[in-house]
Amino acid sequence: MIINSLKLQNFRNYEDLELEFSPGTNLFYGDNAQGKTNILEAIYVCGTTKSHRTSRDREMIRFGSDDAHMRMMMTKGDISYRIDLQLRKGRAKGIAVNMASIRRAAELIGLGHYIFFSPQDLSIIRDGPAERRRFMDMELCQLDKVYTAALTSYNKVLDQRNKLLKVLAEDPRDMATLDVWDEQLVRYGSMLIGIREKFVETLNAIIAPIHEKLSAGREHLSISYEKNVEASAFADAVAGGRRRDLILCSTMNGPHKDDLVFTSENIDLRHYGSQGQQRSAALSLKLAEIELVKKKAGDSPVLLLDDVLSELDSGRQHALLDSIGDIQTFITCTGIEEYEKSGFHIDRRYHVASGHAEQIRQ
Ligand SMILES: Nc1ncnc2c1ncn2[C@@H]1O[C@H](COP(=O)(O)OP(=O)(O)O)[C@@H](O)[C@H]1O
Ligand SMILES: [Mg+2]
Repeated sequence: MIINSLKLQNFRNYEDLELEFSPGTNLFYGDNAQGKTNILEAIYVCGTTKSHRTSRDREMIRFGSDDAHMRMMMTKGDISYRIDLQLRKGRAKGIAVNMASIRRAAELIGLGHYIFFSPQDLSIIRDGPAERRRFMDMELCQLDKVYTAALTSYNKVLDQRNKLLKVLAEDPRDMATLDVWDEQLVRYGSMLIGIREKFVETLNAIIAPIHEKLSAGREHLSISYEKNVEASAFADAVAGGRRRDLILCSTMNGPHKDDLVFTSENIDLRHYGSQGQQRSAALSLKLAEIELVKKKAGDSPVLLLDDVLSELDSGRQHALLDSIGDIQTFITCTGIEEYEKSGFHIDRRYHVASGHAEQIRQ
């Protein structure tokens, strides 16, 4: 898949922006707070309908405007796609593919695949479990429609159940109403657990050789899926945990408490790894994500590298750039000199300054 162009109206700090892209490497450079990340965010939103940094559409609408329009043109094989998105204050977003409006974001899945990589991702190993769950969710939502639907339902049920726990804690007369929510929690939650299990298994097979290469054969990385509860034991855990849930007014069992543990040479890297080891493992995870998508989706993903190259030493920079190969890539950075010096290939460059992007030809 290749993204050919992007048009933004009233998105973040862009009043009106139109960009054409190279199928190779596109670089956006400029000072801080000029709108570089906003461009990558826009691509991600057009491709997945979700932002990597906010769940509130209104944040992305330009200050003082009521709605934002975005259009992305892409090609996959010989077929062209036009994706239109409209973000509206206080209303659901409008989405259309080739001028036909679609109702569910899941219909976009499979059209393209997007990997976002920012400096925050380099701390995924030592961050809290929520970040590692977010990684699984962002990835699986693009790979698996069943997962996307199950996750949406699970989150809704969880939210409803927690609200009901608060009501029942005050007034337990309608306790039986909890049964319906418990049953749905287990149904959707078990689907998530099953899909995550397979995902981690596949990811492990891919990440092991990548990390071995990255560490010059010195380290062997493995990921284990730390389930909060087994799918087969989930129903009992929910029933048995009900009293505690009512005291805490919160659902304490389920895949919303899952985690991933990264181990190298029998060391849990989150707690005992050096910062260097943690960052290498995080980089391997991103490289594995790229490989996984190529394999599973049978298509090359689009890579969005937000300010990340300057965070890596030159060995790791090269490992990343080597694995990109012919993937279409969008890079943001503040200084362009370092790339030119190290001889990285850039096909198209844009200078970004206060909501304008100007193509710089050489
Ligand atoms: N909804 C919005 N409307 C207008 N400007 C916005 C909006 N959201 C963010 N901005 C502006 O976008 C700029 C940050 O853009 P960003 O792409 O993150 O910068 P950087 O070039 O550092 O990556 C800031 O100046 C911020 O005020
Ligand atoms: Mg930025």
